[in-house]
Amino acid sequence: MNPGKARATSNSSMLLDIESLTKIFNLRQGLATTQLIAVDQANFSLKSDQPEIFALAGESGSGKTTVARMILGLTEPTSGRLRYRGKDITQLSRREKKSWYFREVQPIFQNPFATFSPLKRIETYLFETAVNYQIVDKCQLQPYVDQVLSSVGLSLAEISGRYPNELSGGQAQRVSVARALITNPTLLIADEPVSMVDASLRMSIVNLFRELRDQKGVSVLYITHDLATAYYAADRIAVMLRGWIIESGPVEKVLGNPLHPYTQDLKKSIPTPNPDKKWGDLISLEGFDSEALTNVGCKYASRCAEATDMCRQQTPESVEKDGRQVKCFLYEAT
Ligand SMILES: Nc1ncnc2c1ncn2[C@@H]1O[C@H](COP(=O)(O)OP(=O)(O)O)[C@@H](O)[C@H]1O
Ligand SMILES: [Mg+2]
Repeated sequence: MNPGKARATSNSSMLLDIESLTKIFNLRQGLATTQLIAVDQANFSLKSDQPEIFALAGESGSGKTTVARMILGLTEPTSGRLRYRGKDITQLSRREKKSWYFREVQPIFQNPFATFSPLKRIETYLFETAVNYQIVDKCQLQPYVDQVLSSVGLSLAEISGRYPNELSGGQAQRVSVARALITNPTLLIADEPVSMVDASLRMSIVNLFRELRDQKGVSVLYITHDLATAYYAADRIAVMLRGWIIESGPVEKVLGNPLHPYTQDLKKSIPTPNPDKKWGDLISLEGFDSEALTNVGCKYASRCAEATDMCRQQTPESVEKDGRQVKCFLYEAT
């Protein structure tokens, strides 16, 4: 299937459809202003007919959080399109966003403790979210919140009366997943949800996403710099490099048999799947920052063993090759 063609004819088969999404930040340094391209013509989509875990993976600074913030309406795109169920969400009013979009799309952040005020009891958040979004009648609040908590392996009795600092990191992240589930969303945007959770508990959070997909039909945009949990948990993956999506497709294709030299280098540097290994430990990214503002050629050319003059002078297009999209001159569309 050619995704470009599918987009041109219909959007209804897409839950979330991101097309040429770009964010340029203007950085003021004294009197001078420089521009930083945080997200550069990114394309990917999540299907609506089948819930899935879609990993957006890449090292720190590659643009993942900026993509998440644009989806959540917290950062305005510089250009490109962001559609949800076929509607351009950047064109929605705040009211429209609140009435349906923010119910359907809920965030989960890196630090669960930052989600909650230390002075408020945990259950208060869950009740308030249900009340604010008018999810259930007041008399139904307690059973509803209890039922949502049970879907993350907790109960109202367990957390009742407790303050955030009385929860373990794993429990706090489960409660923040529960808070996100109160509005009965279709899509969770989880930005590095396990990076502050103990290594021993990481898999249990990632497994929770799989259960939510299978039992509640929830899709998850799982943002991570951790290749191992992405490989383990995701159905599909998009690998980011300095604002570009350089390879995307089914995880068993992209990580099982990577085609882009960058994805190949990342994979080679992991001897065995290990959830404790982070990308930062795996590949030296020295030298990337100084080039960040040059906008010519492939963004991996300076480090790529396969790079030719063409790679340094021209920008590769994404092509479909062996069941995935890859942005590299080594490949021609099949
Ligand atoms: N509000 C901002 N103002 C200026 N630059 C930003 C801002 N937010 C992010 N950036 C820059 O954009 C790039 C991508 O950042 P980010 O999306 O946070 O990456 P990631 O989440 O993959 O680590 C980085 O170079 C970062 O410094
Ligand atoms: Mg980030």
